[in-house]
Formats: sequence, C-alpha cells, structure tokens
Amino acid sequence: MSIKNVGVVGCGLMGSGIAQVSAEAGYRVTVREVSDALLKKGIGRIDGFLAKGVERGKVSPERRAEVLGLIQGTTSFEALADCDIVIEAAVENIAAKAEAYRALDAACPPETIFASNTSSLSITEMAAATKRAARFVGLHFFNPVPLMKLVEVVRSPLTSPGVFEEACAFAASLGKTPIRSADKTGFIVNRLLVPYLLDAIRAVEEGVGSVEDIDRGMQLGCGYPMGPLTLLDFVGLDTTCSIADIMFDDFRERRFAPPPLLKRMVQAGLCGRKSGKGFYDYSQEPPTPTPGLV
Ligand code: CAA
Repeated sequence: MSIKNVGVVGCGLMGSGIAQVSAEAGYRVTVREVSDALLKKGIGRIDGFLAKGVERGKVSPERRAEVLGLIQGTTSFEALADCDIVIEAAVENIAAKAEAYRALDAACPPETIFASNTSSLSITEMAAATKRAARFVGLHFFNPVPLMKLVEVVRSPLTSPGVFEEACAFAASLGKTPIRSADKTGFIVNRLLVPYLLDAIRAVEEGVGSVEDIDRGMQLGCGYPMGPLTLLDFVGLDTTCSIADIMFDDFRERRFAPPPLLKRMVQAGLCGRKSGKGFYDYSQEPPTPTPGLV
C-alpha cells in the first residue's frame, strides 16, 4: 500500500477521531478546519482522549506525545497537497462538501484518493462532482472512532476496484475491520440501525414502556452495550433526524420516517448529550430521564 500521508477535512467529533486513529497507526496526518479555534478544540479533544488513556494506564506518556507529534493542523486546503488519501468529515451538508471537494481537487495531485465519512449522503453524487470519480470511496467510521472497530468501505459505480481494495487495506491498517458496501443510502449499518432507533422512539410515543425500561430491555435482553434511547442521545437527535430524513426521502418507507417526537425534541433543542438533554438529562450523574416528553 502506498499511503503514507493522510489528510482529514474537519476536526469535529468524527474528524478528530479519524485523525487520531490514523496517527496511532503511524501515518503523518494533516487535519484541516475552517478556523484556528475549531482546530484547537478538535486537537484538544484528541489530546483529552489520549490523556484519559494515560490515566487509565492504556497509553504511555511517550506514546501520547508521539501520536500528537504526527498530527498537524491547518486551515488551508493547499496544506493537504502531499496527502495520499484525504478523508472528508465535514458537516453533513452536500453544498459544504461540494465546496470542500472543489478546493481539494485543485490542491491535490490526481493520484490522491478522496474518501468521505458521510453516513447518509450519496458517494456517487460527491464522486461525480470531482475530477477523480474512480479514486473516490466512502469510509464510514463509527462514534467513538478510537474505540469502535468497524469501518464501512463504500464503492460507487464509478470507483475503481483497485482503489476500493486500497481503501479496505487502509481501514485494516488502522486496526479496524472493513466491511464492503454498495452506495445505497445508509449503507449496511444505518439501514438496520436507523429503523431500530426510530422504532424505540415510537415505543416511547405509544407508551409501550418507560425510557429506562426500553433501554434496559435491549441492553439486558439482547446484550447491546447501550439501550436505543441512550444511543440516540449519544449519536445526537438532530443527526439522527437528518439521517432519517435523507433515508425517507430516498426510500419512501415508513420505517425510515422520523417520528413526530423526534422532530419536536430537535425543535426544542433536546439533541442529546451534546445539548445536555435528550431522552435523559445529563446535568447530574447518573443521568435521569427527561420528564414531560410525551
Ligand atoms: N484511551 C484508551 N482506551 C480507552 C479510553 C481512552 N481514552 N477510553 C476507553 N478506553 C478503553 C477502555 O479502557 C476499555 O478497554 P477494555 O475493554 O480493554 O477494558 C474500552 O475502551 C471501553 O471503555 P469503557 O469501559 O470506558 O466504556 P464502555 O465499556 O462503557 O464502552 C462504548 C463505551 C464503546 C461507547 C460502548 O458503550 C458502546 O459500544 N456503545 C455503542 C456505541 C455505538 O453504537 N456507536 C455507533 C453509533 S452509530 C454511528 O456512529 C454511525 C452513524 O452514522 C450515526
């Protein structure tokens, strides 16, 4: 595999995780954000994770410094010119992504592979808008990126088989297990996960059980690490609603339709952990179910 330098566009929750696991695998990483403030926040998140690893005795202080030393921040696209692969983890907005790909197309040599971490937008549409559709794949990581072992590798009808294999090998080199998916909205995991999460919200709406009991049911009855409503708060209710909207728009099937309670919670700013409140209130430890949702 010829990949040595990795570029990451976006240093939010996913971008910072991707930059971290790439550096942990020994790649030189350049991560691009729109402002120095967002860059500082993103690299601070990586440092925070590594610092917790040191506290837990999982990471040595030397390793923490070594990983951070491989990550360089930038606010320009031109700084990604020597990257062999660029993984885009910008906001899930097709216009914002198109703008990033226009700049990347101009900055990077034609051999550079472009990979999008999108969870629900069309890989084919993004690829077709670049001058290197054959060298464009989806690389969909899972949150929290440093701990989750899976990467979905997504091919469009335009992806070259050699590039697809190279992307699978790259994901494996990060210590992740790649699974291969065609470019169908939601790929493999969200196609199954999203209807399950939306059904859990419908169960709350219909008064089938309490928020805690629905979560306990799936944790203890099925061995899931988190119940569906805790997972919704973790992923973000706004993120889930936008993924569901895109999937419903594509498939026109009720199982992908965001339930009214999800929409109302997003309108109320109850977006989960990131806003301090969702199905649970995170202002105290342990979190307690948010009253008055239905
Ligand atoms: N540094 C190093 N190691 C760390 C660490 C750190 N900062 N933090 C945690 N770890 C290690 C721990 O030491 C532990 O290792 P061992 O198993 O060897 O003991 C392991 O990571 C798990 O850590 P915790 O015990 O603290 O956490 P946990 O057991 O409660 O698991 C979790 C946390 C992995 C998040 C788990 O709850 C989980 O898997 N939840 C489900 C997450 C999920 O489904 N994510 C996907 C969301 S969907 C998505 O992302 C896609 C989309 O498109 C929406």
